[in-house]
Amino acid sequence: MQAIKKVLITGGSGQLGTAIKSIVHTVNDSIQFKFTDSDDLDITNYESVWDFLNQKNFDYCINCAAYTHVDKAGDDSDLALLINEEGVKNLAQACHKTETVLLHISTDFVFDGQQNVPYLETDRANPVSIYGHSKFKGEQQIVRNMERYFIIRTSWLYSAYGHNFFKSMLKYGAERNQLSVVFDQVGTPTSAHDLAAVLIKMISKGVKDYGIYHYSNEGVASWYDFASAIFEINDISVNLRPIRSKEYPLPAERPAYSVMDKSKIKKVLGLDIPHWTSSLVEVSNVFKKERE
Ligand SMILES: NC(=O)c1ccc[n+]([C@@H]2O[C@H](COP(=O)([O-])OP(=O)(O)OC[C@H]3O[C@@H](n4cnc5c(N)ncnc54)[C@H](OP(=O)(O)O)[C@@H]3O)[C@@H](O)[C@H]2O)c1
Repeated sequence: MQAIKKVLITGGSGQLGTAIKSIVHTVNDSIQFKFTDSDDLDITNYESVWDFLNQKNFDYCINCAAYTHVDKAGDDSDLALLINEEGVKNLAQACHKTETVLLHISTDFVFDGQQNVPYLETDRANPVSIYGHSKFKGEQQIVRNMERYFIIRTSWLYSAYGHNFFKSMLKYGAERNQLSVVFDQVGTPTSAHDLAAVLIKMISKGVKDYGIYHYSNEGVASWYDFASAIFEINDISVNLRPIRSKEYPLPAERPAYSVMDKSKIKKVLGLDIPHWTSSLVEVSNVFKKERE
């Protein structure tokens, strides 16, 4: 008989945590999930992290906990580093001591966006924002403190849950006749629902090729393309205007190009990754169902 795998989820009330929660019923009894939020388990408190992991004997920890306010991170840099570096270090050290495999989510924002071909896992990280810097510091803590980890970098995460670009566009589309969106930042939108399924697949397959991985949906888009597809798929009529980033200045700089190469994860998991446009149709359907 197959042994039951026990999985701890931190930051379980956020966007990705909720997406994982929404599909656990599709997983057979061979995996047991324990969802925690920041009230149950604050990753910045080492004693709590240690007690939790030491007492409950988990096989895996999926870390969905993070400081994710890209534009506030400049003013909040201490907090961003406390959660994204110290918190992750706490998890890495406690996972190492308890022989728990850590699946940690990182970001395309670790890159500076100067390339014009998809980023490989081995390409040099050079974050251009405080948020990206704090996430990269978290990655380094994992590499330094343990061996059995998966760092999964993803990009432009959206879903039917939490705060994200998809939901903001639906809201603005309902309120406004005209909207301007930047076309000079290029990346790949990623369905959190698809990422959730990939994380579970890594656990159920018992992958042992530890290390850094890139995962996004297939394809390339600008934020303008993404917004345009959101409106088209959801039958929203808005006069959408493409603008340059300098016409819409934000506190944090973003990489101009952050498409990631996904060959490694495709090979290890035997994955056929959906194109971002087909996942957008799926997410739009989930969103509509959730509102019924
Ligand atoms: N969103 C994106 O576009 C994107 C893109 C690339 C990568 N990522 C990465 O993907 C991961 C998941 O992102 P997401 O969109 O699901 O983020 P999210 O919705 O902001 O969720 C983050 C969760 O972390 C929790 N958290 C914050 N501080 C904590 C602490 N000290 N201890 C425990 N939990 C804490 C938050 O709980 P409270 O609300 O209670 O504080 C929240 O539930 C993150 O690592 C993020 O960096 C996101």
